Amino acid sequence: MSTLNTLNVKALTTGYDKVNVLHDVSIDVAPGKITCILGANGAGKTTLIRSILGLTPPRHGEIHWQGRNLAGEKTHKIIASGISCIPEGRKVFPRMTVAENLVLGAFLEKDDARVQARLEKVYNIFPRLKERMLQLAGTMSGGEQAMVSIGRGLMAEPKLLVIDEPSLGLSPLYVKENFNVIQQINALGITVLLVEQNARQTLAISHYGYVLSQGRVVAEGSAEALSNNDGVRSAYFG
Ligand SMILES: Nc1ncnc2c1ncn2[C@@H]1O[C@H](COP(=O)(O)OP(=O)(O)OP(=O)(O)O)[C@@H](O)[C@H]1O
Ligand SMILES: [Mg+2]
Repeated sequence: MSTLNTLNVKALTTGYDKVNVLHDVSIDVAPGKITCILGANGAGKTTLIRSILGLTPPRHGEIHWQGRNLAGEKTHKIIASGISCIPEGRKVFPRMTVAENLVLGAFLEKDDARVQARLEKVYNIFPRLKERMLQLAGTMSGGEQAMVSIGRGLMAEPKLLVIDEPSLGLSPLYVKENFNVIQQINALGITVLLVEQNARQTLAISHYGYVLSQGRVVAEGSAEALSNNDGVRSAYFG
């Protein structure tokens, strides 16, 4: 497999203080695809993302991105290498406008014209954000704030977009809209690692997936195979 924009997590073990939360986790994120990690509350999904970003570094194992080991690298270096994360709970800056929130995502780009061009691309994906560019982000609805946070992640022009539970707390309509947008983003050529509890809808847009349970990978396969897996269906399809 090409090393270009490929993320390989190899036998990752890590955790907090004296406790390991992830045990021997191996996942491959193929370039150009949507790969999902499914798991219940506390399975270790966010910890896996923190580990990729260098916030909770590996204790054992390796994380390879574009063919090089990220273990021990500083978070800002990892982000600068083209990995952008949309955090759990969205976390917009409520007292800044929609446009200001978006521009923050392009903080590594110093050229104003280029930032403006990126902004236009994001407004193309989210026309609603263009209509409301001067509105304070904190006064947007939950679903709209989700758009702001995805848009902010895109402003970095990432090669890999990591999204932590985008459907959390959203009404079914917004969940659908958000998942459509994720598919649209992937169609632009951006590799996606999608972490979710909403198995049914996540598998509907993913190419490949892993199931994480108590910090271990307990199943993996094509999205189609996982959707037809009885264990996955009974545990995660609700
Ligand atoms: N900063 C921390 N310090 C200590 N333990 C933590 C910390 N963050 C998470 N944990 C523990 O690690 C385990 C995995 O948590 P994690 O947040 O990775 O799960 P998750 O799969 O993202 O869950 P959720 O779906 O609820 O977001 C949990 O038992 C949690 O209590
Ligand atoms: Mg989490």
